[in-house]
Amino acid sequence: MAILLTGGTGYIGSHTAVELLNKNYEVIIVDNLSNSSEDVINDIQEITGKRPTLYIVDLLEKDKLRTVFNKHNIQSVIHFAGLKAVGESAQIPLNYYMNNVTTTLILCEVMEEFNVHKLVFSSSATVYGIPDKLPITEEATTTALNPYGRTKLMCEKILLDIANSNEKWKIAMLRYFNPVGAHESGLIGEKPIGIPNNLMPYVTKVAIGELESLNIYGNDYPTSDGTGIRDYIHVSDLARGHISALNHINKIDSVDIFNLGTGQGYSVLEVVNEIEKVTGKNIAYEIKDRRVGDAAKSYADPSKANTILNWEAEKGLSEICEDIWNFVEKSYVKYD
Ligand code: NAD
Ligand code: WQD
Repeated sequence: MAILLTGGTGYIGSHTAVELLNKNYEVIIVDNLSNSSEDVINDIQEITGKRPTLYIVDLLEKDKLRTVFNKHNIQSVIHFAGLKAVGESAQIPLNYYMNNVTTTLILCEVMEEFNVHKLVFSSSATVYGIPDKLPITEEATTTALNPYGRTKLMCEKILLDIANSNEKWKIAMLRYFNPVGAHESGLIGEKPIGIPNNLMPYVTKVAIGELESLNIYGNDYPTSDGTGIRDYIHVSDLARGHISALNHINKIDSVDIFNLGTGQGYSVLEVVNEIEKVTGKNIAYEIKDRRVGDAAKSYADPSKANTILNWEAEKGLSEICEDIWNFVEKSYVKYD
């Protein structure tokens, strides 16, 4: 029995592939490589001693997707594939709706055709918009502040309708908080092309001297030091959360939603300080205006996942920074 990972060569997918292979699952990956590289398959093999099967297929190509389902006895699907940059989603919304919403429809159609009804979906804490209560529980109001967020909310609603239409469907929707870090081997991690949008990869590029200084978006929030607070979760902890979701999936009645976060928030300045401590580098920064659509604070109440999935994040901010630095040092030797 195999697990299909759409978007499995990407950042979160590759870490999940490692955890699944370590637990002896057979891993099949479908990815169009629009934001990842085939090389990651070798890295996954180096870490685990096992090689996932990769199909370079765009999920919009329904017939090619059918071929994959024909070839393998797929038990469950983890659907990571999609586009994820908030700013970009406002510039090219059509691409976002096609790659996030249409792909999900096509995937579900093919799953239905092949009688595969177990799905783990990559959702995001972005669906909470600006939270009105902290920590954020799964019952919090959902809203979308940009096209990317809208695609995630739309997918959640579509999946709920599908699951309600046929009792065979069992869908776990995982709302990730801020995934960061890299595999402890330093072989896989996040290496965004160009100027990163997110804090961690940006700070990392300042630490290695590729970017001069960090822009901190606002220091007048109602937080301890005035900078924004987020729930940074190690990507390997997040990856393990998918295995816990798969272990639980047979007990799901249609749909269940889980926050995957640590429950602990850190400010931008705390992240900067920790990176300085781990790397021994000075991080230059400038205070800028607040970024439109940013919440002052966002952190999870992960108790539902803790109890029902029997899952808990284990790695804290210092291990996150250490693993990022290990990855960056290794990957720069390897690729540059
Ligand atoms: P990623 O870009 O590293 O991985 C996504 C993968 O999907 C890439 O390998 C890309 O090539 C592939 N892909 C994109 N469109 C495709 C298509 N049409 N057909 C086939 N493959 C396609 O992103 P990630 O950080 O690993 O995110 C994985 C999922 O988690 C996404 O759905 C994202 O929205 C969600 N998520 C990410 C974060 C985050 O901060 N990284 C937070 C919350 C939710
Ligand atoms: C974190 C904090 C910024 C960059 C995003 C998406 C969300 C999800 C995770 C996909 C905030 C501050 C940032 C910088 C800064 N992704 N910051 N300077 O916005 O919490 O979440 O990634 O689903 O949908 O919106 O993460 O890393 O961009 O920001 O000061 O150069 O760092 O203002 O307080 P965010 P982030």
